[in-house]
Amino acid sequence: MSFPIDFPSWLIDNAHRLKPPVGNQQLWLNTDLIVTVVGGPNARSDFHDDPYEEYFWQFKGNAFLNIIDRGQRERIELAEGTMYLMPPHMRHSPQRPEPESRCLVIERSRPEGVVDGFEWYCLNCDGLVHRVEVQLKSIVDDLPPLFAAFYASQTLRTCSHCGSVHPGKLGSANVYTPAASVPSPLAGEG
Ligand SMILES: [Fe+2]
Repeated sequence: MSFPIDFPSWLIDNAHRLKPPVGNQQLWLNTDLIVTVVGGPNARSDFHDDPYEEYFWQFKGNAFLNIIDRGQRERIELAEGTMYLMPPHMRHSPQRPEPESRCLVIERSRPEGVVDGFEWYCLNCDGLVHRVEVQLKSIVDDLPPLFAAFYASQTLRTCSHCGSVHPGKLGSANVYTPAASVPSPLAGEG
């Protein structure tokens, strides 16, 4: 059963879920479109390979996406007010340094046989260190064990191209400037 949602009230009622350790909350369950609000702070070292488009509306605060595009590291700013429709398979790693930031994210549910990839790239040579594919049923339940396995294994974290060991969970923190330090006309609001 679907139902309309009073979004401002929903944001207040779910504020406790939009921060660590959960950080996100789905608006409707068991739907073809997966509509989620994501809060901060959160930093990820994995890059997601979604087989479908993803829609972002950064309606409060600032965030950014680390991108790997044809071997090059890029960064897409999600400054407050930004909408972005990301193409399928664009390797992206959302970074949300601001505690009260809010982003509406819409993804498609994945039918059987359509898998997601999660990848880590070498901080020394930018080579692919590890990729795991998963039939994604639940973004909340399916990912933590997969990430934990990578963090726990030095073998999985060792770059086959240059031999560097990926630091794991904090693997992107040293490479990128947090969005909060990037001048923005909207920084500091709300
Ligand atoms: Fe490497």
